[in-house]
Amino acid sequence: MEITEHQIKLVQSTWEKVVPKSFEISQKFYGKLFEKYPNYKQMFKTDMREQGKKLMQMIGTTVLGLTNIGRVTPTLKESGIRHVGYGVTDDDYNKLKPILFWSFKDSLPDVFTDEVIDAWNITYDIISNIMIEGTKKEESIFMRVLKKTKFW
Ligand code: HEM
Repeated sequence: MEITEHQIKLVQSTWEKVVPKSFEISQKFYGKLFEKYPNYKQMFKTDMREQGKKLMQMIGTTVLGLTNIGRVTPTLKESGIRHVGYGVTDDDYNKLKPILFWSFKDSLPDVFTDEVIDAWNITYDIISNIMIEGTKKEESIFMRVLKKTKFW
């Protein structure tokens, strides 16, 4: 998956606009997610404020690391493995994407133009592919250790 320098700049500059509104956006996002997919609700045990913060932090870390994605890859892979434990499937990543972008655009309609959304689409695919990839690698040490514990 290729992202251009220009697209990275677009994602990073628009992320700065998302940050001050990240609480509002994450609440909108989960509201819509549970409205559309009510059965996701039972997967979330953490307080939704906290959960929203974690989601936004992870996106922020990746967005700032886009020029050197290798640095955030291990964190994303480990989170991807934990997501399998929460019951998240590969297809769930596709379901979540349009809802996340809807919540961005709903709060910042002038910022999230088609060009910006295109750049974010690639970014989201990079994030989710790395998370999913982490669950597929046989050699994942984290996975092997996890499987030996009672938590798996
Ligand atoms: C780009 C995609 C995603 C990102 C960046 C992301 C980020 C995060 C982060 C940072 C956490 C905190 C704990 C951890 O890292 O394990 C988390 C937890 C969680 N995520 Fe995601 N996530 C993504 C996709 C999804 C999808 C598609 C689902 C499916 C509905 C999902 C469901 C959950 C659940 C159920 C938890 C645990 C909540 C709890 O502890 O109560 N996530 N996510």
